[in-house]
Amino acid sequence: MSTLHAPRHVAIIMDGNGRWAQNQALPRTAGHEKGAEAVRATVRAARKRGLECLTLFAFSTLNWQRPTDEVRDLMSLLENFLVDELPEMLQNGIRLVAIGERELLPSRVRKRLEETEARTAHNEDMTLVLAVSYDGRRDLVRAARQIAELARRGELLPADVDEAQLAGSLSTADLPDVDLLIRTSGEIRLSGFLPFEACYAELYFTETLWPDFGAEQLDEALANYAHRQRRFGLTGEQAAALG
Ligand code: IPE
Ligand code: IPE
Ligand code: MG
Repeated sequence: MSTLHAPRHVAIIMDGNGRWAQNQALPRTAGHEKGAEAVRATVRAARKRGLECLTLFAFSTLNWQRPTDEVRDLMSLLENFLVDELPEMLQNGIRLVAIGERELLPSRVRKRLEETEARTAHNEDMTLVLAVSYDGRRDLVRAARQIAELARRGELLPADVDEAQLAGSLSTADLPDVDLLIRTSGEIRLSGFLPFEACYAELYFTETLWPDFGAEQLDEALANYAHRQRRFGLTGEQAAALG
């Protein structure tokens, strides 16, 4: 029995830019440039398919440890992406939201992100979340500190802390849970991505390297998802009866 439901929230770990470049005997940066094209194609396809929310893992906290030149190139690609895509985001009703430790980003990039967030804040057709300098455990720690501070001020009792309180303190507070989590490039790990939010997500791993990902590969993942039965602890029969 399949759910045949479309996911509300798809999250993607965009991996394999370096290997794509290596396969073509090109510098890693060429892989990231091609990867940025794949981002554009995927965002466009997601919007056309009517997705409510698309979250892309663009840069992890651990990625700061990469060679300085590579980090610099990734930051300028992000900046260019935001500049180039703004008109299309406005035209297509896409709201951009950034998650992660934005204070660690170069100020030009941070300003551009914040400007894009502000300019697109009223768009309602799709939310595009960019995870930059993101690490799920660090986001959980930040949320725990925020909750502890409320308790210290006497605004909250420990017993009041529940799943909703914690979810509401994460940087993804106003987003639906992740339904489908995709990782490209054949790696089968989560690398700190959305540990709380994707806790009940369906996982989809593909060998496709991120620069080769686009509308067709997104459709394959959505078709695969459509045939899964999400049981949430129930028996198959119970879940089927709920539709
Ligand atoms: C994903 O591709 C992009 C980022 C992590 C920024 P990689 O650069 O990790 O590609 P591989 O894993 O080296 O192939
Ligand atoms: C994870 O990719 C982060 C992004 C896709 C931005 P990595 O390629 O950095 O992940 P690991 O270190 O191989 O797990
Ligand atoms: Mg990688």
